[in-house]
Amino acid sequence: METILTSENLKRSYTIGKTTLDVLKGVSLEVNSGETLSIMGESGSGKSTLLHVLGGLDNPKEGEVHFKNESVYGMSTARRARFRAQNVGYVFQAFHLLPELDIVENVALPAMAMRSKGGAKARAEELLTEVGLGDRIGHRPQELSGGERQRVAIARALMNDPDIIFCDEPTGNLDSKTGEKVLNYLFQLIEARRHTLVLVTHSQDVASRCSRELFLKDGFLI
Ligand SMILES: Nc1ncnc2c1ncn2[C@@H]1O[C@H](COP(=O)(O)OP(=O)(O)OP(=O)(O)O)[C@@H](O)[C@H]1O
Ligand SMILES: [Mg+2]
Repeated sequence: METILTSENLKRSYTIGKTTLDVLKGVSLEVNSGETLSIMGESGSGKSTLLHVLGGLDNPKEGEVHFKNESVYGMSTARRARFRAQNVGYVFQAFHLLPELDIVENVALPAMAMRSKGGAKARAEELLTEVGLGDRIGHRPQELSGGERQRVAIARALMNDPDIIFCDEPTGNLDSKTGEKVLNYLFQLIEARRHTLVLVTHSQDVASRCSRELFLKDGFLI
């Protein structure tokens, strides 16, 4: 199977005043193309930190991330921004939708530099329909429930047909029934398109839906 993403010996710490907190102490990982990988860990274990580093959003202190044999942090800033826009979809823990845009505009945003405005909006509407929000076109995020917002965020992550999708606790803010519904949409979309998924969660139920499960503990993956 083809390897799409690797990390070697990733280290990341945070320094506040005189205290340094070592969060990632040497994380090595291979992600295969088409797999769905979950990374579980307790709150504060560094799951979001790891996902940011893997997704090209946060420089590690040490170590390397390679996407299809290209060093992600060896890229120029412009190249890395383009890599993120074209190859990576990201569903953040706290949605990160823009309140001044309606949901079609939110979903279409990552494609605005790459497609015509009309083409981007048409695809955004298609994706929103696929996540069951076809009747909410024109609404703004603040008019939607938490589960509906998370589905908008999932549609946005798929907008540019990325090679790899990172999901940070996709159901963390939702009740279990809503969470399951959101996960069903997520896995339906991903399996239909054979996307690669890396998902972090503290929930065993969520992790079990993936094809492979890893744990982040004391700064290492096990
Ligand atoms: N910008 C920051 N500055 C200082 N410390 C930080 C920063 N971001 C995260 N941390 C600390 O690093 C540790 C790991 O944080 P991280 O957000 O990666 O954990 P997590 O596993 O995603 O937790 P949760 O499940 O609660 O989302 C925590 O102890 C956190 O307080
Ligand atoms: Mg987190």
